[in-house]
Amino acid sequence: MQTDDNRTIVMSEVMTPDMANFGGFVHGGHLMKLLDRVAYACAARYASMYVVTLSVDHILFKQAIKVGELVSFYASVNYVGTTSMEVGIKVVSEDLLSHERRHTNTCYFTMVAVDKLGKPVPVKPLEIRNELERYRFEGAKLRRQLRLNYQAEHDQYKKQLPKKNLDNL
Ligand SMILES: CC(C)(COP(=O)(O)OP(=O)(O)OC[C@H]1O[C@@H](n2cnc3c(N)ncnc32)[C@H](O)[C@@H]1OP(=O)(O)O)[C@@H](O)C(=O)NCCC(=O)NCCS
Repeated sequence: MQTDDNRTIVMSEVMTPDMANFGGFVHGGHLMKLLDRVAYACAARYASMYVVTLSVDHILFKQAIKVGELVSFYASVNYVGTTSMEVGIKVVSEDLLSHERRHTNTCYFTMVAVDKLGKPVPVKPLEIRNELERYRFEGAKLRRQLRLNYQAEHDQYKKQLPKKNLDNL
């Protein structure tokens, strides 16, 4: 289902037995596949361009999802840089008989718009129209900085490792 502006979408799907893991709950890998699909649809629709997944963070399975539940993915483009976009996805699982709803997960995808050769291309800037969009935008900006800091620190750490010790691994 598409919502009334071009930066948010909602997708719902019933969890069927073929999606179960050995414990009888929904397989984490299956949820990740659905999340990636939702992030793709949300970002490509906003950008009106082909997009690829650069990274995903904060996939935390705090509560198991049962087979038979209706899972809804509420996605929004929170932030647009030059070629990259952050898509936030809130996952809500509903028992179809009792209507009990649980917020099971929120995660963040970084998607990049690319041309036919896979080269990043600019995306239209994100207009901030209200408090909620400002809140999401500022949060996404902070997460982007944290990602870049993490990457820089990790690269630094790897540079310090004596290379010869790694050759035996
Ligand atoms: C995504 C991809 C095109 C980016 O290429 P790249 O050479 O890193 O491009 P750039 O350095 O120009 O970075 C592109 C954007 O990503 C951002 N970015 C790159 N690394 C980042 C990181 N570690 N954290 C946060 N943002 C990052 C850049 O800041 C830039 O955003 P901006 O234009 O909004 O400022 C390339 O990495 C790729 O093709 N990856 C494979 C994608 C894929 O196969 N995905 C799975 C299937 S869809």
